Amino acid sequence: MRRVPFVPTPHQIVRRMLDLAEVGKGEVVLDLGAGDGRILVDAVRRFDASAVGVENNPRRVLLATRNIERSGVSDKVRLLNQNLLETSLRDADVVTLYLLPEMNRALLPRMMRELKPSARVVAHDFPLPGVKPTKRERVNHNGVFHYIYLYSADALSWPPIKRF
Ligand SMILES: C[S@@+](CC[C@H](N)C(=O)[O-])C[C@H]1O[C@@H](n2cnc3c(N)ncnc32)[C@H](O)[C@@H]1O
Repeated sequence: MRRVPFVPTPHQIVRRMLDLAEVGKGEVVLDLGAGDGRILVDAVRRFDASAVGVENNPRRVLLATRNIERSGVSDKVRLLNQNLLETSLRDADVVTLYLLPEMNRALLPRMMRELKPSARVVAHDFPLPGVKPTKRERVNHNGVFHYIYLYSADALSWPPIKRF
């Protein structure tokens, strides 16, 4: 599988992703591939959510830990230094993704098995292959278009719907 590089989601797009997912107070936001932790920080600050970040690159884990501490949200954030393909999705209310299509494809069967029916998945730029999103939004950020895809867990289907 191709390595997913660290490319942070612009803050404006992070905000829109979490708004679209309608994160509720106390809900658990799970960022798979947490990078510098910005999604976790925004989820706690703006929605009073709990956040869990999964990151397999130790340097990124260090960077995220620093950002989380500086933002004063450490008590509401858990950072797991592990492979996101081995992370349990069962407690998540909202899953955020900025990964490559192969990784999204690999995650899909687990999402269908493990996510609560009320959970939402929100993906930046790379959709869940073959699944029709509940909402799709195009956002202009400094002249570059970003795409946000929202899915409700109870509408995820397997095998994927063929698109013609
Ligand atoms: C495109 S960045 C997104 C960072 C953050 N979620 C954001 O949107 O700003 C993807 C992140 O996933 C991490 N990553 C890639 N493969 C991973 C894996 N198998 N397990 C955990 N983290 C992974 C990378 O190190 C990188 O920090």
